[in-house]
Amino acid sequence: MSTKRVGKILKISGPVIEADGMLGSSMYEVCKVGEEGLIGEIIRIQGDICTIQVYEETDGILPNEKVIGTGAGLSAELAPGLIGQIYDGIQRPLPLILEKTQDDFIRRGVIAIPLEYDKKWPFVPTLEKGAKVTTGDIIGTVQEGPVVNHKVMIPPKVSGTITSIAKADDYTVIDPIVTVKSNGTELELPMLQKWPVRFGRPIKERLEPSIPLITGQRIFDTFFPIAKGGTSAIPGGFGTGKTVSQHQLAKWSDAEIVVYIGCGERGNEMTNVLEDFPELIDPNTGEPLMNRTILIANTSNMPVAAREASVYTGMTLAEYYRDMGYNVALMADSTSRWAEAMREISGRLEEMPGEAGYPAYLASKIAQFYERAGRVTTLSTVERQGSITITGAVSPPGGDFSEPVTQNTLRITKVFWALSKDLAARRHFPAIDYLNSYTLYVNELAPWFAENVDSRFQSYRSEAMALLQKDKELEDIVQLVGPEALPESEKIILESARMIKEDFLQQNAFNEVDSFSSLEKQWLMLKIIIDFYHKMSELYTLGVKLPEMMNLPIIDLITRMKYIPNNIAGKELGAILAEIETLQADAITNRIGGRMKTDLKDK
Ligand SMILES: Nc1ncnc2c1ncn2[C@@H]1O[C@H](COP(=O)(O)OP(=O)(O)OP(=O)(O)O)[C@@H](O)[C@H]1O
Ligand SMILES: [Mg+2]
Repeated sequence: MSTKRVGKILKISGPVIEADGMLGSSMYEVCKVGEEGLIGEIIRIQGDICTIQVYEETDGILPNEKVIGTGAGLSAELAPGLIGQIYDGIQRPLPLILEKTQDDFIRRGVIAIPLEYDKKWPFVPTLEKGAKVTTGDIIGTVQEGPVVNHKVMIPPKVSGTITSIAKADDYTVIDPIVTVKSNGTELELPMLQKWPVRFGRPIKERLEPSIPLITGQRIFDTFFPIAKGGTSAIPGGFGTGKTVSQHQLAKWSDAEIVVYIGCGERGNEMTNVLEDFPELIDPNTGEPLMNRTILIANTSNMPVAAREASVYTGMTLAEYYRDMGYNVALMADSTSRWAEAMREISGRLEEMPGEAGYPAYLASKIAQFYERAGRVTTLSTVERQGSITITGAVSPPGGDFSEPVTQNTLRITKVFWALSKDLAARRHFPAIDYLNSYTLYVNELAPWFAENVDSRFQSYRSEAMALLQKDKELEDIVQLVGPEALPESEKIILESARMIKEDFLQQNAFNEVDSFSSLEKQWLMLKIIIDFYHKMSELYTLGVKLPEMMNLPIIDLITRMKYIPNNIAGKELGAILAEIETLQADAITNRIGGRMKTDLKDK
């Protein structure tokens, strides 16, 4: 892109303006709009007329005011200092702009740079003069807060030989720290690099999604697991648990870095995110979760164009940490608000509307976003692996999943965690519909679970799901003819399915112990319920009645097993399993018989 072009405003339509005299501009080039120099981005070029979406309120801007092209695309600044930040959609630090405007509304024309340019960071070089380097090579590290070890990398498109490198000391992100010589020219580089947010950062190779992202949530890990580098959608109507689920993922996933993009529906909802999120504690370190998190926040009173851009900004930050070799979990809550921003801008552009008024390119925009997920190897000389796992919440109006945003999302994402209004109303939480949700990673992840959890894991999982399916069919019969009509053997199925639902799938995010289940605990809990189901079937054939079985002390243990702390789960759940194995038909009938005799004696 070449240098500055000055045009003038022809027309203003909300967040979108048209300017002429812009010949030679590029798509997605950033412009300064009007006398106040509001930030905008070119989204359409027709001859010398450009259409620009503006990231700030355009009230009071007048035709004929000037528009200056900057020659650069909308870019994220990447360097130590990102972790713990709360940004708006174009990477302006929110606390800083709120402070500057003394208001919850973001006033325009506020210049706020993403990173503190005068803050010094302790840089430790890892390469020496003379080393040959290429894109992604780590030249040094910076401890970024208490948790994250930031890798300072050679930026994309640069390679050559190091002719000088800074010694271990404190530097700002704009101090030059390395000089790279390539084809006779020397390039001085600081820690800071920039990347245009609408383009994915380059990688070497995509890897198979063969490692699960462990979330500690039983319905996710055991029933509908997601791979590291995978994509999932979590659609749900109002109040069904999208935000709680996203917070659980942010807190408990085994990802080193979390990027959380909040697109608020109501103004106060984002205020909640801004207040809640910084208070979350990382259970693994006991430190604030913000120590490994970047938050992007859009309130409904921020201009829509900034909301449209926010997912790309968040994605670029995620890719930067992926390139360091980290597993990044990226959450967007809710992508429906992002799609609505697209719809509003498209309307202003007078584009032909598609389904429900969304632009025809909605599907391809959603696809492009999720396609930036993945587990990859980096371009660096010494290959690293990193991943970005995306979970997008979707809030379909009226909870109707047939609407375009949900449908287009489901076409792309490989995991569908469907929130059910019905389950939420019955306070079955997480209200993930265990019959309609799915994961397409199950086969690719099976070897991992077999090797790292148990070789029988898949078959137990399938059996549990089949029981729930059968339970559903039986429930329909019960509706018609009442429970008494069912044979005992089918009542056993109902009881076992009830255990799967209540004692396994229901998981209280707000209970200290239950909030996270280790994989070992999940497996043993599942095994207990399924083994007990087998045992019940066996006892039944030996003449034990269902009420007798339901009176066994083991029932109580099963009800309480989710509250057994992870560190002793192996031992305690193992003991329950052992007890199930030793259950004997005649012992049970004698016991019951014996108790009945005593009961009679008492009377
Ligand atoms: N796993 C869970 N454990 C316990 N309670 C839960 C769980 N998930 C959801 N809830 C309950 O449901 C309520 C609503 O959840 P949440 O705010 O996540 O819904 P939402 O889908 O994000 O709603 P909105 O449409 O307003 O954004 C929570 O306040 C909480 O009481
Ligand atoms: Mg919510």
